[in-house]
Amino acid sequence: MRGTGAVLFHGAMPGSASGAVAATTLVMPASVARGDGPWPVEASEQAVAWEDGVITYVGPADGLTGAEPEWFEGRTIAPGFVDCHTHLPFAGWRADEFEARLSGVSYRELHGEGGIYRSARMLAEASDDEVLAFCAPLVQEMADHGTTTLELKSGYGLSVENELRQLRLARRLAEEAPQTCSVTLLACHAVPEGMERAEWVRTVCDELIPAAAKEGIADAVDVYVEDIAFSVDDLATVAGCASDAGLPVRCHADQLGPSGAAEAAVTLGARSADHLNNVSAAGVEALGGASGTVGVLLPTSTLFLRSAPPDARALLDSGATVAIASDFNPGTSPVLSMPEVVATACSLYGFRPLEALAAATVNAAAALGFDKRGTLSPGEPADLLILDGDAFRQVPYRPGHNPVLHAFVDGRRVGGR
Ligand code: NIG
Ligand code: FE
Repeated sequence: MRGTGAVLFHGAMPGSASGAVAATTLVMPASVARGDGPWPVEASEQAVAWEDGVITYVGPADGLTGAEPEWFEGRTIAPGFVDCHTHLPFAGWRADEFEARLSGVSYRELHGEGGIYRSARMLAEASDDEVLAFCAPLVQEMADHGTTTLELKSGYGLSVENELRQLRLARRLAEEAPQTCSVTLLACHAVPEGMERAEWVRTVCDELIPAAAKEGIADAVDVYVEDIAFSVDDLATVAGCASDAGLPVRCHADQLGPSGAAEAAVTLGARSADHLNNVSAAGVEALGGASGTVGVLLPTSTLFLRSAPPDARALLDSGATVAIASDFNPGTSPVLSMPEVVATACSLYGFRPLEALAAATVNAAAALGFDKRGTLSPGEPADLLILDGDAFRQVPYRPGHNPVLHAFVDGRRVGGR
């Protein structure tokens, strides 16, 4: 099997989505992991084969028949990363705010002249083509770092018209992106200037959600619950309206301070509660017993804001389904690399490497409502990576290094280095 010089990526040839690879190590989650797991396992000398973008074989390399795999000595095959929380599309960076925070200005203090409002102004000032030209290379950079599925979000529109525009831009970006994308309407991110909070929540329910649902440009609805943003009651109201429109709800919960948003998310049957830096013991318990609410942790956002990390071990031990994601945005997390997110989850939050892998793949897919992504099983899309190193622990062990040699989406090579 080794060094056969087999047809190099016959699956990666233009127009083709069939192929086979084998490597020293294969690592994959069997299913969504919570509490005791099941956590991903590593196995030696395994192969993956696919036809028309769908996996047909996963198992011992010497058991594969009918295809000659390309052999990767000393490498690891893994499922593609699922980045289930990003704020793309946006237009422009805010590095000066980063520098100001390093001089002692808080994220809360920047909220107004800077922060979400500033990104909203930058988005409004950019043409559609400028936004797409800014975002497309970032999405490719994500593919090069192994992200094969991702979320795109609005939330920098801050008016009905501009939120709908951002959703349409997200859909256009999704069409151009090499990855599979899910689009979220972050309906309540900041209270639009000149409006009362309650008025915006009513507008979201009466106009924005129905319009987005009618146009089919949103797959979920998100609410930022925080003292500088929206309340738990607002979340409940918006969740009801989203449900009426047939859309699942998610929320930014307990990021800067505790609010009870995690508990409310579980009670409301939200698909996820994200951030959780200040989640209460009751919130951890609620997520531990939740049937469909994923706790999404965003470790690079914590690192970047120099916030206190949540007790990730308590959350894992509670039995919660825990995912990790980049939170890629120009304010709190200008990080698009899932290997970096995995590294930060391990060194800052105390994840073990294989827990982080489950959190960055199959559990993250659950937060997006994808039950067929994030694992490697016959019948599933061939979204997979060839990583350098012969064990997954090499990924968190080397932050700053891109371990992704090849990334495949639906069996086609879309990135790597
Ligand atoms: O998830 N906290 C709210 N929203 C984003 C940050 C948005 C921004 O600063 O532009 C987050 O961290
Ligand atoms: Fe976010």
